[in-house]
Amino acid sequence: MIPSHVKIVEVGPRDGLQNEATPVSVEVKVALIDRLTAAGLPVIESGSFVSPKWVPQMAASAEVLGAITRKPGVSYPVLTPNMQGLEAALAAGAEEVAVFGAASESFSQKNINCSIAESLDRFAPVIAHARSKGIKVRGYVSCVLGCPYEGEIAPLAVAQVAKRLADMGCYEISLGDTIGTGTPVKAQAMIASVAALLPVDMLAAHFHDTYGQALANILAVMEKGVAVVDSSVAGLGGCPYAKGAAGNVATEDLVYMLNGMGIKTGVDLAKLIDAGRFICDAIGRTTGSKVAKALN
Ligand code: HMG
Ligand code: MG
Repeated sequence: MIPSHVKIVEVGPRDGLQNEATPVSVEVKVALIDRLTAAGLPVIESGSFVSPKWVPQMAASAEVLGAITRKPGVSYPVLTPNMQGLEAALAAGAEEVAVFGAASESFSQKNINCSIAESLDRFAPVIAHARSKGIKVRGYVSCVLGCPYEGEIAPLAVAQVAKRLADMGCYEISLGDTIGTGTPVKAQAMIASVAALLPVDMLAAHFHDTYGQALANILAVMEKGVAVVDSSVAGLGGCPYAKGAAGNVATEDLVYMLNGMGIKTGVDLAKLIDAGRFICDAIGRTTGSKVAKALN
């Protein structure tokens, strides 16, 4: 059941940078996104229209969207938690957006200041309005393999939120192991639970690598048919409302693994490593990618 092609959703410019304490300039963000485009990524999450009081680093997302060079066929989605975010994203020229919910009540409160039920009520008009404008909407579910506040999360709770998002019109559901505590057999059980309610080709794996399990978990869910994987160049990132959360699996490491398995992604590893080197130099970080370290 292993897919022959994997769509990589690069989330570095959003998930990777949202947690950086020092402001990263619009110029650097745009140069990063343009380099990721040149590396062949089909989807590059490019910003977030959230409250600048909550996530200051994403405050200039409209300027970023306005300045990137968009390649036809490549999607540049942004996060929109509510109508205010959607209106701002549309005004900035967004062509794809994402709403983000959680399978954990406590995380929902800490991250977006409302319950799961309230969040779904809030997303409904966002999704409907976006779709009426021809804008595709992705849905995230956080804490699918554990919550920083509640610990274990039942796979059924994940499946129920995922189903609601899909029923409201999200075309793809990205399942977030926000704190990276998952392990392969649990990841497979979680996917089986969601795939009982939704087609597996709607599902994406969004695994943070806090415990070094992300690649193993990705391979495990690919065995269950998942063919969309989120990752972050240089392994940048973390969620500001999940203390201690590390970045997503590094895109370089993911591409290296898939190349080794003969699975197509369309991504040029050398150009991707260049993009990772660029952003690490610009923000004064060492790469979180083992492949980039080995090949540099
Ligand atoms: P709230 O305080 O409940 O919102 O925040 P509100 O509607 O009561 O408004 C309060 C203030 O926020 C007002 O401003 C609004 O204008 C402003 P004031 O009058 O006080 O000056 N506001 C906004 N400003 C800009 N854009 C907006 C917006 N909405 C309200 N869209 C809210 C609710 C959702 C806005 C807030 O909680 C928030 O911004 N949270 C951000 C959370 C976030 O970005 N987290 C990181 C991304 S999620 C993630 O990383 C997980 C993921 O990667 C998957 C995984 O790994 O699991 C996706
Ligand atoms: Mg994330």
